[in-house]
Amino acid sequence: MEINLLTLCYLIGSVTFIIGLKMLSHPESARKGNLVAAAGMGISIFGTIFLYEENGEKLHNYGWIFAALVIGTIVGTLAAKRVKMTSMPELVSLFNGMGGACAALISVIEFKHITAAAHTDAATPYATYLSIFAGLVIGSISFAGSMIAWGKLNGRVKDFSFKGQQVFNMVLFAGIILLSAYLIFGLTPENQFLFYLVLLGALVYGVLFVLPIGGADMPVVISLLNSFTGVAAACAGFLYNNQVMLTGGILVGAAGTLLTILMCKAMNRSLLNVLIGSFGGGATGTQQAVTGNYKEISLSDAAVCMSYAHKVMIVPGYGLAVAQAQHVCHELEKLLEEKGVEVSYAIHPVAGRMPGHMNVLLAEADVNYDKLMEMEQANDEFKSTDVVLILGANDVVNPAAKTDPASPIYGMPILEVEQAKTVIVNKRSMKPGYAGIENALFFQPKTSMLFGDAKAALQKLVAEIKSL
Ligand code: TAP
Repeated sequence: MEINLLTLCYLIGSVTFIIGLKMLSHPESARKGNLVAAAGMGISIFGTIFLYEENGEKLHNYGWIFAALVIGTIVGTLAAKRVKMTSMPELVSLFNGMGGACAALISVIEFKHITAAAHTDAATPYATYLSIFAGLVIGSISFAGSMIAWGKLNGRVKDFSFKGQQVFNMVLFAGIILLSAYLIFGLTPENQFLFYLVLLGALVYGVLFVLPIGGADMPVVISLLNSFTGVAAACAGFLYNNQVMLTGGILVGAAGTLLTILMCKAMNRSLLNVLIGSFGGGATGTQQAVTGNYKEISLSDAAVCMSYAHKVMIVPGYGLAVAQAQHVCHELEKLLEEKGVEVSYAIHPVAGRMPGHMNVLLAEADVNYDKLMEMEQANDEFKSTDVVLILGANDVVNPAAKTDPASPIYGMPILEVEQAKTVIVNKRSMKPGYAGIENALFFQPKTSMLFGDAKAALQKLVAEIKSL
């Protein structure tokens, strides 16, 4: 029996993608999962370069192929090594955009091949044209949208919208689909140039689709665009009848879609609300007024309170990431444990500004994964917790999500920290968080505010505890 070595390479590639993806779902195995999938990708790429044959001919152009591989490897490695954790969504967006551009370029090149050979070949099946146009449209939207998302995240591109933009976008999108359908079924040498009009329309749509969306909603948009890129790559897989491209594309498409849905659920917002509305655009009625006085706690009181507790739970949020206070937070945890205090972390699924933000942040500081509790588990633990220390988190601990039907975050699952005996909140002021709403937790009798930048406050807290 003849064994096709290239098919075997593709099989290995497809299997490693699935295993790698599974391993990515746990922080402890995530790093290895990435390597497993990368190894599979390497085998598939080199298999294609050296084993692919068409009509008995192997690939040529090795100089170009390897020059591109070397440049891509250097740029990718440097970018990944230099990026700061808080800029990670930017990098993901940039890489994702490149994936979309590749899928669109494949469609452009294959369209040129097919139309150049059309007078000698038998008729090209409609399915081939369908794959070409789908890859072109989805890949171009993903590329243009990701570039705008990248610009928004690094502040180079500002939010922009004009009156009637939603309608204009819908008309433009319908135009792209209709023109594509017309060309798929009625392509002639005379109307071939309209292919480039579809390309232009898709690029413009990608830009206009992302421009009005608020910068802080970008992680959801990036995840959505990521799933588009996966679908565009799968179209290219159809085109080349290449199983590994198909499997990889479908996995990325499915994973991106699931992540988008999970993020929306964890924020209690519909995808439509993220794409066309501001935070909580769906809430109606007047929000309950937050009144009362808040009280402050001194560093020495906070140090005593935590040192003599049995159980302390730390709730990290966006402010901890901004302050880059993860290392000193880990130092505080170790110090308290030396004093016999049981310390763990409560992780809300959308704490911070990107999926898994807190997990990655704490992993960077070598916090043991076993100390991280997911929301449901943490909510069971708060009842028996003496002190909850909230570090730069706000919306994810706002009780209005449970008590105020008029609140924009009503229905969003939250960390129920008010069940603990004492709550200490560290932030710099009484300003609201991402959702822009007041937090009644800060005014409750068991809550005390510890004002200041998270890093500076924790450094002082650590010094106080050491001096006890
Ligand atoms: P937020 O509600 O945004 O609150 C963060 C708090 O940190 C602010 O109130 C701010 O108060 C404080 N802060 C800022 N800089 C600080 C510093 N240097 N030191 C100490 N505190 C500082 O954050 P959260 O509770 O983590 O909630 C995340 C929000 O982002 C949710 O609304 C979520 O829906 C949204 N979101 C998340 C994601 C993902 S996937 N994670 C994606 C899109 C949107 P001061 O200004 O007073 O210091």
